Amino acid sequence: MAPPIKPQRPPHSEKNPFRGDIREFRSALTDWFLENGRDLPWRTFPPRDPYSVLVSEIMLQQTQVATVIDYYERWMERFPDIQALAAAPENDVLHAWQGLGYYSRARNLHAAAKLIARDYGGAFPQKAERILALPGVGPYTAAAVATFAFDMPTPPVDANILRVAARLLDYRKPTDSAAGLSHIRDIAQQWQPSAEEGGAGIFNEALMELGALVCTPRTPLCSACPVRIFCRAQEPETLPIKRPRPRKVELEEHCGWIVRDGQVLLEQQTGKRWRGLWRLPLLTEPHSGIPLAALTYPFTHHRVSLSVFPGTTPLFLTENQRWFPFPELEAVPMTAPHRRALRKLLLDKS
Ligand code: ADE
Repeated sequence: MAPPIKPQRPPHSEKNPFRGDIREFRSALTDWFLENGRDLPWRTFPPRDPYSVLVSEIMLQQTQVATVIDYYERWMERFPDIQALAAAPENDVLHAWQGLGYYSRARNLHAAAKLIARDYGGAFPQKAERILALPGVGPYTAAAVATFAFDMPTPPVDANILRVAARLLDYRKPTDSAAGLSHIRDIAQQWQPSAEEGGAGIFNEALMELGALVCTPRTPLCSACPVRIFCRAQEPETLPIKRPRPRKVELEEHCGWIVRDGQVLLEQQTGKRWRGLWRLPLLTEPHSGIPLAALTYPFTHHRVSLSVFPGTTPLFLTENQRWFPFPELEAVPMTAPHRRALRKLLLDKS
């Protein structure tokens, strides 16, 4: 463990009110990481092989670390380098990915290996724009490969780094907006050591690991935090701030099941959104009791509860109502929830 460090406070900047000396912060965090970081199979310091960084980062995109470990180890045995992956038949690649889901990730990884083998003679590109141009590689993954494999000062701002940064600065504006995220990215960029100083890769991995092990979402372990003296958060568990989700407004929709001589009464909708589509006729009077069919569906910021009750044959049809013989119903254009309700009613009837 590093000895406690007395922060030297540099003059505040409105944009990055970091509490203390950034170099001391980096060294305290990196020392903690070298001592306490998890021994994950893709962490082979230093230097890290860009191919293994790419494989692990793509696997980690939608899958938890604990699940990825086995897949990663088997993958690296089967396809130890770019050439091996590039030469593999697609079936083998998909087979090795089986169980991880989101198969486009495996196809993209395969395509990236083929591209590197073909265009760069198998040598992983080091320029940021070339990494970003690889299939399936977005700004996060490109930043992760550049920093972990090539020690570039490109912070890969994932949910962990975002949370750590928001707390260190007590940043109390939403971070799930483009402006908030871009602010945090700028801050994480300002914290990077220069290329000459070196050490960006390990520093970024340490930031990420702090978020995974100590600065956790619900109950952060502040008393065990190696950089708590640099932290401004008063109520860390409330950070980062997310924009309030608009509450869904509940709506009731009551429709009638009106049947006569092997025909069902439907009505054509006139509203902007569903003009021309048919639905079970709306009941003008609200009904109570047990519906013949009930389901819910989302509609913009509403949650609609659709209930269908037995209706009575009207004396006159409105101009947008029509009788449809049962065998024609499947061909009638309808909105999905009304189609579902109608199918259920037809099934119950038969
Ligand atoms: N999640 C995303 N990248 C990671 C990494 N390099 N180590 C641990 N967890 C991660």
